[in-house]
Parts: sequence; structure tokens; C-alpha cells
Amino acid sequence: MFLLLLASAQVSMTVPAGEEPVEPYVIQDSNAGATPYKTDRWFKAFHGQPGIDRIVESFMDRNIADPVIGEIFKNQDDVRIRRTLKEQICYLLGGGCAYTGRDMKGAHQNMGVQTADFNALVENLQWAMREEGIAFAAQNKLLAKLAPMKRDVVER
Ligand code: HEM
Repeated sequence: MFLLLLASAQVSMTVPAGEEPVEPYVIQDSNAGATPYKTDRWFKAFHGQPGIDRIVESFMDRNIADPVIGEIFKNQDDVRIRRTLKEQICYLLGGGCAYTGRDMKGAHQNMGVQTADFNALVENLQWAMREEGIAFAAQNKLLAKLAPMKRDVVER
């Protein structure tokens, strides 16, 4: 059983171009922190992968420029965050992507993120979704998947 598990587990070994290495971890969709919608309705409502890509780009630009949370993003692997976020949102919205990033607890530990930081990030995401012209109901579908992750991201 253990051997079987080892054989099927995909461990992160290679470093994608332009990214920094991270400690090895097991790659699995459950690292995305929530189960995906079973329909691609919400993925389509986000204008598919091109829409998600545009949202992540403007969202991250805004996070980096943000007076409250910008500092937390300095000296982090921006290329990696953008890539894995695009995968995560596609995955959660039923777009059929695989999520290859770390789990939410592991990715945010010892970062000192507080509730105010979490709220600032959500506002930036809402801004980016509005800018892309995402329908309100669809915006809320994504936020509903992300909200419970607060407990794994915020330290108290
Ligand atoms: C539900 C909310 C959030 C989601 C879905 C999310 C998602 C992600 C993802 C996918 C990664 C990359 C994982 C990896 O490298 O394998 C990441 C990393 C990161 N996140 Fe978040 N995040 C959230 C909240 C926050 C908040 C509130 C902050 C700070 C204000 C933040 C700051 C960061 C930083 C700085 C990294 C880079 C960590 C590193 O490279 O070591 N995140 N996040």
C-alpha cells in the first residue's frame, strides 16, 4: 500500500523556467484548498483561461502596489505565484486544470498575514474581477471557495 502510494505520488522535482526552487512537496489537486465546481459554467463566466490570466495579472499588480499588503509580496517568487494562482482559480472554477502548487497552509506559513491583509487581498481580487467584467454571481462563486481558506492563511 505504501509502495503504491509512493509510486502514484508526484513530487515536485523540477523548477519551472523563471522560478525559484522550493522545498519538495507532493503535487496534488487537494493542495488547492477546496473542491472544484462540477460544471464549467463558472470557468466560462470568467471568460475561460484568458480571462483568469488577465484577472491574476491585474490582481497581482495591485497586490504588489498595495499600501497595506505590498510589502508582504516583496522578494517573493512573483512568477511562481502568478502561475500557480492561474492554475488554482481554473481548477476551482471547474476549468479542468491541475493545481501544481503547495497547500495554502504551507505556502503562507510564517508570513504573519493578518485579517486586515486578507481583506485587502480580497478587495484587490474583487477589483480585478470587476475590471474583467465578471458577473456578480460568478464573482461570488469564486469568493465562496476562497473564504474558508482564511483559516490556513491568517496567523493569529
Ligand atoms: C484565499 C486567499 C489566498 C489564496 C487562494 C492564495 C493563493 C496562493 C498561492 C496559490 C500561492 C503559491 C503557492 C506555491 O508557491 O506553491 C501563494 C503564495 C503566496 N501568497 Fe497567497 N493566497 C491567499 C492569501 C494570501 C494573502 C492574504 C497574502 C498576503 C497578504 C498572500 C501572500 C502570498 C505570498 C507572499 C506568497 C508567496 C509565498 C512564497 O513564495 O514563499 N496570500 N498564495
